[in-house]
Amino acid sequence: MVVTSDIEKASETLRAGGLVALPTETVYGLGANAEDPAAVARIFQTKGRPPTHPLIVHIGGADQLDEWVEEASATARLLAEHFWPGPLTLVLRRGRRVPLEATGGLETVAVRVPDHPVALALLSAFGGGITAPSANRFGSVSPTTADHVRAELGDAVDFVLDGGPCGVGVESTIVDVTGETPSILRPGGVTREDLEAVLGHPVALPSTSHVRVPGQHPSHYAPRARVVLVEPERVVAEGELARQRGHQVGLLLPPAFADAPVKAHAVVTVPASTTAYARGLYGFLRDLDQQGCDLIVASLPTDEGLGLAIANRLRRAAEPRPSA
Ligand code: TXA
Ligand code: MG
Repeated sequence: MVVTSDIEKASETLRAGGLVALPTETVYGLGANAEDPAAVARIFQTKGRPPTHPLIVHIGGADQLDEWVEEASATARLLAEHFWPGPLTLVLRRGRRVPLEATGGLETVAVRVPDHPVALALLSAFGGGITAPSANRFGSVSPTTADHVRAELGDAVDFVLDGGPCGVGVESTIVDVTGETPSILRPGGVTREDLEAVLGHPVALPSTSHVRVPGQHPSHYAPRARVVLVEPERVVAEGELARQRGHQVGLLLPPAFADAPVKAHAVVTVPASTTAYARGLYGFLRDLDQQGCDLIVASLPTDEGLGLAIANRLRRAAEPRPSA
C-alpha cells in the first residue's frame, strides 16, 4: 500500500534527479523528471534502451497539455477531454519544456495523463511532468506488478511505489495527432472502436513499417522463451510436436480448447474476455518463463477491441530476436 509519506519520498527522489517506478493503469513506468536531461539519460541507461527511442511524458491533467506541446489541435483536445485520465497517448509538436533527450531528438512529443490514483498523486505532489517508459529492460516483457519491477530492475531504481497489479495490463494506445488525420502508432488500452466513436470516422491502423527503423529490431515485449504463433486449433498439436523435439513447452491455450488433453510443461488457459486477457498477458508470459519454458505456443485473438493490442504484443514477441 502507498501512503502519503511514500508519495513525498518519491517526489523528492524525482526532484533530486532519481528514478521512481510508478504504477499506472496500463503497466508500471520507470519515471524521471521530464525536464532533467541527466535523469532522463539514466532511464535510457537503466533500460538499455537506444537513445533515439522516444519516451512518453506523463502529466497531471488535460489542463496542463499546453505547457508541454507547441499547439494542440481541436482533435487532440477532443481526444484528451474524452479519454484522459486514461490509456491514450497523444503525439504532438514538442513544447519548449520538453528536452530533446526525452523525445529521442524528435520535434514531436508523446503525452498522456495516467488513470491511476498513485500516479496522479505523485504527479500532483511533484508538480512537473514525468517521463516514464515501461519499467523493464529494453525489448522484454512490461511489468504489471511492483514485484515484476523489483525482479527485473532491482537496485537500479531509487524508489518503487507499489500500487498493486495494473488494471489494463497492456500499454496505452498511441495516436499521432500532428497531421490532419489522426493515426494509431501503437494499439493499446483505448480501443480503435472507442476512438472512432468519438472522432466519428475510421482511424488508420498501425503500420508495421515504423518499427523497422535501421538498427532497431522489431522484436519487443518478448519473454526469454521463443514465441511461436499458430492457428487456435493448432496450439495443442504444435505444442506436442515441439515437446517431442525436446522443448520445454508452454501453451497459451485458447479458451475453446480448455478441456483438451495436453502434455505440455506448463499451460495457461487464456481468459475468454479480452479485458481479462490483456490484464493477464504479461504475467502469463513471465510465469511461463519462470517455470522454465523455452518455447511458448500461442494463437492470436481477433483484432476486435483489446484483441488488437494483445495480437500486436504477441506478434512483436514472436519476431526473431536480435541475438537469434
Ligand atoms: O502505457 C504506457 O504507455 C506506458 C506507461 C508507463 O505509461 N508507457 C510505455 O512507454 O509504454 P514505452 O517507452 O515503453 O513506450 C513508448 C512508446 C515507444 O514505442 C515510442 O516509440 C513511442 O511511445 N513514442 C514516444 N514518443 C513518440 C513520438 N514523439 N512519436 C512517435 N512515437 C513516440
Ligand atoms: Mg515499453
